[in-house]
Amino acid sequence: MFLKNCWYAATWSRDLGAKPMARRLLGEPVVLYRQENGQPAALEDKCCHRAAPLSKGQCIGDYLECGYHGLQFDASGTCVRVPVQTRVPPGAKVRSYPVRERWSVIWIWMGDPGRADDAAIPELSWLDDPGWVSAPGYFHLKGNYLLIVDNLLDLTHVTYVHKNTIAGDPAEGAVPVKTERLNDGVRVGRWMIDFVPPPLFRKAGGFAGNVDRWQHVTWLPPSNVYLDVGCATTGTGAPEGDRSQGISIWSSHLITPETETTTHYHWCFSRDFRLEDEAMTRLLFEGARDTFLEDLEMIEAQQDRLGGVTLDGLVDINSDNAQIQARRMLDEMIAAETAS
Ligand code: FES
Ligand SMILES: [Fe+2]
Repeated sequence: MFLKNCWYAATWSRDLGAKPMARRLLGEPVVLYRQENGQPAALEDKCCHRAAPLSKGQCIGDYLECGYHGLQFDASGTCVRVPVQTRVPPGAKVRSYPVRERWSVIWIWMGDPGRADDAAIPELSWLDDPGWVSAPGYFHLKGNYLLIVDNLLDLTHVTYVHKNTIAGDPAEGAVPVKTERLNDGVRVGRWMIDFVPPPLFRKAGGFAGNVDRWQHVTWLPPSNVYLDVGCATTGTGAPEGDRSQGISIWSSHLITPETETTTHYHWCFSRDFRLEDEAMTRLLFEGARDTFLEDLEMIEAQQDRLGGVTLDGLVDINSDNAQIQARRMLDEMIAAETAS
């Protein structure tokens, strides 16, 4: 069961061109494409004539042409042309989905189109702010989408899973976190004062000694997560708000179920320092990729053992608080949506 009346990231903007893109989202086959004016569109990826995937066709101006017998559809899903006859049969239509392009992301609304609300697109302005540099990436993951949400809301795994990337001092694992339930999500975070910097941050920030490190994670239902993470030279006032002697990275995670047990995972590190430095962009892209590959390997192994999608019969520990709250909030939202 998925929350339907909300926006999911269908793809990064830069990955959608004139060529139709097939994506199964929440179990439904969808084809995404751009119209002639660049506006994105999304249709059910199943032709109403003989069920060929429309993604095997091509874009002709504003229309999507089926690759089997050439029927053409507009962005509302209405068939506008049948090559071998002048009359378009009544009811020749496929489902269309509301789509928006914001923050360099193509967002799709999988629920009731009449309820699509632009104000509900998550605020992720750093992803296309000219004062920031973002280097997005994508993984297809063989795991339930909430396993990634769990992972991101659980800071304790960093010490164990990310030894080669973002784990710093092993003592970090014992630093407690603070969880906050927001009106529209869950936030968890912590400060680690006077610790050895993790390898990636040491390279990116050029730190010679110890740092004060912060990790603040925000989950927005159903499955978008962003992290404000960084570190600054110890004793330079970062916990009080002065980050001038440090670096901060905003880490975005746009997590979209493909099926119950597979996921489209869009991730991105964004920075607001050394904007012109290509080597820094590469370092952070590769750092993000390598870090999230470590998560991916663990989550796919976890999904293999879980089999299904519930955590029934497993034991909770204190640091699971944020993910338990998030799952509970999402369950309530899905139940309310189903009831209505
Ligand atoms: S299946 Fe699409 S035109 Fe025939
Ligand atoms: Fe991780």
